[in-house]
Amino acid sequence: MALLLLLLLFFSCLSTPSLSDPRATKAAMLCTNRTAPTPSRQLFVSNFLAAMDALTPLISAKRYGSSINGTHTLTVYAFGQCMKDLSQQDCNMCFAQCKTQILNCLPFQKGTRGGSLFFDGCYLRYDDYNFFNETITDRDTSVCNGTSNKNGVVYKANALQLVSNLSHLAPKNGGFFVASLSRKNVSVYGLAQCWEYVNATSCRNCLADAVTRIGSCPPKQEGRALNTGCYLRYSSQKFYDNSTVVASSSGNHGRRKLAIILAASFAALALVLAAATFAFFARKNLLKRRRDRRQFGAILDTVNKSKLNMAYEILEKATNYFNDDNKLGQGGSGSVYKGVLPDGNVVAIKRLSFNTTQWADHFFNEVNLISGIHHKNLVRLLGCSITGPESLLVYEYVPNKSLHDHLSARRILQPLTWEVRYKIILGIAEGMAYLHEESHVRIIHRDIKLSNILLDNDFTPKIADFGLARLFPEDKSHISTAIAGTLGYMAPEYVVRGKLTEKADVFSFGVLVVEIVSGRKNTSFITSSSSILQTVTVIFCRASTYFLDNVSFADYHFSFSFSIY
Ligand SMILES: *[C@@H]1O[C@H](CO)[C@@H](O)[C@H](O)[C@H]1NC(C)=O
Ligand SMILES: *[C@@H]1O[C@H](CO)[C@@H](O)[C@H](O)[C@H]1NC(C)=O
Ligand SMILES: *[C@@H]1O[C@H](CO)[C@@H](O)[C@H](O)[C@H]1NC(C)=O
Ligand SMILES: *[C@@H]1O[C@H](CO)[C@@H](O)[C@H](O)[C@H]1NC(C)=O
Ligand SMILES: *[C@@H]1O[C@H](CO)[C@@H](O)[C@H](O)[C@H]1NC(C)=O
Ligand SMILES: *[C@@H]1O[C@H](CO)[C@@H](O)[C@H](O)[C@H]1NC(C)=O
Ligand SMILES: *[C@@H]1O[C@H](CO)[C@@H](O)[C@H](O)[C@H]1NC(C)=O
Ligand SMILES: *[C@@H]1O[C@H](CO)[C@@H](O)[C@H](O)[C@H]1NC(C)=O
Repeated sequence: MALLLLLLLFFSCLSTPSLSDPRATKAAMLCTNRTAPTPSRQLFVSNFLAAMDALTPLISAKRYGSSINGTHTLTVYAFGQCMKDLSQQDCNMCFAQCKTQILNCLPFQKGTRGGSLFFDGCYLRYDDYNFFNETITDRDTSVCNGTSNKNGVVYKANALQLVSNLSHLAPKNGGFFVASLSRKNVSVYGLAQCWEYVNATSCRNCLADAVTRIGSCPPKQEGRALNTGCYLRYSSQKFYDNSTVVASSSGNHGRRKLAIILAASFAALALVLAAATFAFFARKNLLKRRRDRRQFGAILDTVNKSKLNMAYEILEKATNYFNDDNKLGQGGSGSVYKGVLPDGNVVAIKRLSFNTTQWADHFFNEVNLISGIHHKNLVRLLGCSITGPESLLVYEYVPNKSLHDHLSARRILQPLTWEVRYKIILGIAEGMAYLHEESHVRIIHRDIKLSNILLDNDFTPKIADFGLARLFPEDKSHISTAIAGTLGYMAPEYVVRGKLTEKADVFSFGVLVVEIVSGRKNTSFITSSSSILQTVTVIFCRASTYFLDNVSFADYHFSFSFSIY
C-alpha cells in the first residue's frame, strides 16, 4: 500500500507540466482622477519609482508585496500580487509588464495620483493614500467579453453556480480557488483571488460583491469582476494552471485523508525512501536533459560548441556563488557580480531577472551579434550562459566604477576635473554614434543614464548594457523594468507615444550632459536651492513640458543650447 502511494507521489512529482503562460493580458486599467499639483509632480514620480523598485524583489520572493515611499505630505503606496496558480517565473514576467503599463496612469501623462491595473495573471495598484484596508469601492467594475455561448441557458446556470461556489471556497482556502463545473456537457472554468492584505471576512464580502457584479456577464463566454480587494473570473476555456495548486472542491478532505495514510505508513515509507530518492534524482536528471533538448531544439548543439557559451557552474564559482561581497550593482534587468574566471580573467557577470529559455535561439543569436561589436567606448559582451538554472551574461570588467558613483559619492571619490568631464562626454558621444550609425547592427540603447556609463582606469567612458532590449523578443517585457527606473531620462515622445528612434538616446544624452557638467543628478534638481543649476533645470523642464503640450517634437539640439545657457 505504502509503496503504491509512494510510487503515485513519485510520478505526480515527475510530471510537473509547468504551463508557461504569464497571462499578461490586460483586463482593465483604472486611473483615478485626482491629479498632482504641477510643482510636486516630479517628486511624486520619483517616489512612485522608488515604491515600484521596492516592490520588485518582494514579488520575486513571495509573489506579492506592498511598499510605501515618500514623506507624509507626498507618499506613494503600492501593492502588487500574482494569482496563486502562476509559477514564480510567470509571475515575474507578468509583473514586469504590469509595471511598464501602469506608467500610463502617471502624472507625466494624465496627472493622476493613483491607478490600478488588472492583468489576468497579476495585479498592481498605487495610490497617494493608505489603501491597504480597502476591499470594495465605487471604482469596482466588471468586464464581460466574447460572444454568447451556444448553450446559453445551461452555460449561464453553470457559470453562476461556479462563481458562487468559488466565492464561498476561496475565503476558506487562503483567498484563492480555481475550479471547473461541467453539467449537461457544458463546462465552465473559474478562478477567485483575494489580495493578500484582505482578511477572510473582507474576502468573503468582496467576492460576494464580485458575484453580483459578474452576474450580468453570462451567457457571454468570459466574465471578470475587478474589485478593489479581489478578482473573479470565469471562462469557457481552461485558463488557469491547477497542476501546481491542490484546489478542488474535495481538496481539503482529500488532503486530510492523505495525511492520515501517510502517518500510518510512515515506517514503510522510510524503508523505500532511500531507493526512491535515488531513482527520483536519476529520473529527474534524465527528464531535465530531455526537457533542455526539447526547449532548445537544434540550437543546443550550436550553443554548446560556441565559444560564447560558458558553463553555469564555472560562472557560479567565479562569483563565489553570487556572493554579496562580489556584487557590483543592481540594474533593471538583473544584478551584476564581479567574477574571476579559472584562467584569471576578471569579468562582470549579470544575472538576468528573466529566464530566457523560452526564446533561447533568439537570445543566443542576439548575444552572438552584440558580442561582435567592438569599440573603445562600449563595454564588451563576452558571452552568456543559457542552459543553467538562470540566464547569465558575461561582460568585460570595467574597474573604475560608474559615473553615477562618481557624481553621487564626491566626498569619497576625487571630483572629476574639467578635462576628464570633457573626455567623458566626448567618449559617450563617440560610443553612441558607433551604436547608431557605424556598427554592423543598428542599436538604440534606450537606457542611457549615469549608472550605465562605466569608467576605465584612465577615465575612458564605456557604455554598458547596450543591445539589452534586443535580447528580449518584441512585446515581451524586454527592458520594461529598466524603463520604469529611468523615467527622468526618457524622451517625451517615447514616454507619450512609445515612438522609438535614435533621438530618444540623444535626449537621454542631453540629460546626461547636464548632469556631468553640473555634477548633480537629474533627480536632485528638484530639491536644490536656487542656483544657476536650478535655472537650467527649470528651463529644461519647461522645454520638456513644451514638447509634451505641442505635437511637434523638434531636434534635441534645442535642449542642449538651453542647458549650456
Ligand atoms: C475581449 O475580446 C476581444 C476580441 O476577442 C479581445 O481582443 C480582447 O483582448 C478581449 N478582452 C479581454 C479583457 O480579454
Ligand atoms: C472624479 O471622479 C469622481 C467619480 O467618478 C467624480 O465624482 C468627480 O467629479 C471627478 N473629479 C474630477 C475633478 O473630474
Ligand atoms: C524611498 O526611496 C528612496 C530611494 O530608493 C530611499 O532612499 C528611501 O529610503 C525610501 N523612503 C522610504 C520612506 O521608504
Ligand atoms: C478585516 O478587515 C476589515 C477591513 O480592514 C476590518 O474592518 C475587520 O475588522 C477585519 N476583520 C478581522 C476579523 O480582522
Ligand atoms: C482605512 O483606514 C483609514 C485610516 O488608516 C481610514 O481613514 C479609512 O476609513 C479606512 N477605510 C476602510 C474602508 O476601512
Ligand atoms: C457548488 O455548490 C453547490 C451548493 O452549495 C454544491 O451542491 C455543488 O456540489 C458545488 N459544486 C462544486 C463544483 O463545488
Ligand atoms: C457531449 O459532447 C461530446 C463532444 O462534444 C459528444 O460526443 C457527446 O455526445 C455529448 N454528450 C451529451 C450527453 O450531449
Ligand atoms: C485540473 O482541472 C481539470 C479541469 O477542471 C481537471 O480535469 C484536472 O483533474 C485538474 N487537475 C488537478 C491536478 O487538479
